[in-house]
Amino acid sequence: MKNCFSCFSSSKKDEINAATSAGTNTEGSSSTEAPASSSTPGNSSAQASNTVPNIAAQQFTFRELAIATKLFGEKCLIGEGGFGKVYKGTLKSGQVVAVKQLNLDGEQGSREFVNEVLMLSHLQHQNLVTLVGYCLEDDQKLLVYEYMPSGSVEDHLFDLKRGQQPLDWFTRMRIAFGAAEGLEYLHEKVNPPVIVRDLKASNILLDGNFNPKLSDFGLAKLGPVGSKTHVSTLIAGTYGYCAPDYARTGHLTVKSDVYCFGVVLLELISGRRAFDDVKPSHEKNLVLWAMPMLTDQTKYPELIDPLIKNNYPSKALNQAVAVAAICLQEKASDRPGMSDVALALKLLTVPNIESPSPGTSIVPPLPDDTISAEVASTSGSH
Ligand SMILES: Nc1ncnc2c1ncn2[C@@H]1O[C@H](COP(=O)(O)OP(=O)(O)OP(=O)(O)O)[C@@H](O)[C@H]1O
Ligand SMILES: [Mg+2]
Repeated sequence: MKNCFSCFSSSKKDEINAATSAGTNTEGSSSTEAPASSSTPGNSSAQASNTVPNIAAQQFTFRELAIATKLFGEKCLIGEGGFGKVYKGTLKSGQVVAVKQLNLDGEQGSREFVNEVLMLSHLQHQNLVTLVGYCLEDDQKLLVYEYMPSGSVEDHLFDLKRGQQPLDWFTRMRIAFGAAEGLEYLHEKVNPPVIVRDLKASNILLDGNFNPKLSDFGLAKLGPVGSKTHVSTLIAGTYGYCAPDYARTGHLTVKSDVYCFGVVLLELISGRRAFDDVKPSHEKNLVLWAMPMLTDQTKYPELIDPLIKNNYPSKALNQAVAVAAICLQEKASDRPGMSDVALALKLLTVPNIESPSPGTSIVPPLPDDTISAEVASTSGSH
């Protein structure tokens, strides 16, 4: 986990089996929680129902996963984050998977492991990565996911390898749209809503057709229920992505994720990292750098990733930047819901649509001060 700050302690071991097999909502328990009800799996337009999808997360032995990954061999290593190393593996059944092994010395711990298993065991959508299973044996903690052949969005946006093709405009918009649909499901179809808290380019994985799937629910939280407006938490997330209101108060809402989404959309448009220490000081923080351009439509073309060159429809760029800008509003209540964001982005996923049809734009004209200096100065400052 790069630039990630989390605030958890370790947790109980038996919670996964107890909670996943019973399908219980453990909200209110001291450490872990899982959404209680969900929409029809994979159908983003379905209404929420009171049924808990019975998604069986298989339990694997350490031996099975060691065999699958050729003894966690270097050749199978496909990535590494704050949780630990990620290996490509093949199960006895022939299924190709990604195996994430908890770094025993790492700061992030069993709390995130349990949270990840509980959350993903209760969630199912075409834009969420599938948890195949897990291993909990002695001190070993491993997560087994469906294998995503194209890696993460981060792998395709920044520091491209020699000969690697940059993502074209429409692929970027399709990724943004799919990620928005995944978030829409979590915020608006699942009850209580799930707040991802750590949405970022490296946590959006891509299948062989570059369809995006959200991953990493270790920091996810159930959203407020009833008359509550927010959940109070310790601040956790990743530098450069964190909503200013959440960073200031610790009050978490689905709109905190909407802000993170705005940052990801800006990364897709600009090809710049949310926070890049290598850049000159005024360019390190993406939102801070982009702010003067976000409030002036004539400057939108200056935001575009030079690797896209001129291969984008200019009206679509205007719409995409305006969606990012409204997601980055300082006041959480001024940010749109993810269903509106998804609707606006859907129009940008296909060529020949130069302007949205009347009534579909979520983007009001932006006054100059809508994205305040505070937004930019708080994100990336933790
Ligand atoms: N299911 C998967 N299929 C294919 N590759 C994956 C999968 N999960 C993770 N990876 C690869 O492993 C890398 C590391 O993932 P990981 O989630 O551990 O760390 P990260 O997202 O880079 O950082 P963080 O720990 O902050 O989430 C990813 O960038 C991706 O390339
Ligand atoms: Mg990740």
